[in-house]
Amino acid sequence: MAESNKAPLVDERLSHIAFIMDGNGRWASKKMMPRTFGHKHGAENFKKIVQYCGDIGIKIVTVYAFSTENWGRPQNEVDTIMNLLSEYLDTCEREMEEHNIRYRFIGDMSVLTPELQRKIAYVEEISKDKDLLLNVALNYGSRAEIVNAFNKIVKSGKTEITEADISDALYTAHCPDPDMIVRTGGDIRLSNFLLWQAQYSELYFTDVLWPDLSKENINEIVQEFYNRKRKYGKV
Ligand code: FPP
Repeated sequence: MAESNKAPLVDERLSHIAFIMDGNGRWASKKMMPRTFGHKHGAENFKKIVQYCGDIGIKIVTVYAFSTENWGRPQNEVDTIMNLLSEYLDTCEREMEEHNIRYRFIGDMSVLTPELQRKIAYVEEISKDKDLLLNVALNYGSRAEIVNAFNKIVKSGKTEITEADISDALYTAHCPDPDMIVRTGGDIRLSNFLLWQAQYSELYFTDVLWPDLSKENINEIVQEFYNRKRKYGKV
């Protein structure tokens, strides 16, 4: 929830925004630095952007932190991202109090180290009564999520299923679909992110590289959202 002394800029039409945080590697290369440098700055900017979204009244933020395909990157890059995640988890307890954040991790956590899994379970538990919902997609792939949902439904014994059954079996069952999905870094695709949930999401693509995404950019994105006509298939 936005603090009362900060006038919210958004209303319930934009309650959930999702980000594909792309461009860390290129940001670093432009500075003649290793890709891992870009991830460090990407992680810093991620915190700033989440806080700002909360400040302007957005209720749910979802970020694509690590995909099931990202394991195929060089080992030192994977290790850096996992270390950043671990360090980030250590700051969540303080962040949760300062910025009223409720953490949820979506994806298959079972392949993460026991230490990471323990930290994730802990921050999810202690933050569960907070208001600004932050979904961190980690070892996430949308098709795998959908297959997992179908298997859950099959195991439940259902022989006929509805759209609601599928939505309720996804990792995101606890929250509504995103109103807007933003991808930084110039590519124009969803890359296996929230494919089911993106049904009527407004899509926004920007060339800005993730570590450079600013509060002003967020204001532009919000402005663009309110300029769109959401018709949901109607006229
Ligand atoms: C995409 O940039 C970014 C990622 C695959 C990882 C995102 C990770 C972070 C923002 C930091 C860690 C996150 C947390 C939650 C602490 P890219 O490497 O694909 O960039 P490129 O397209 O320029 O190569």
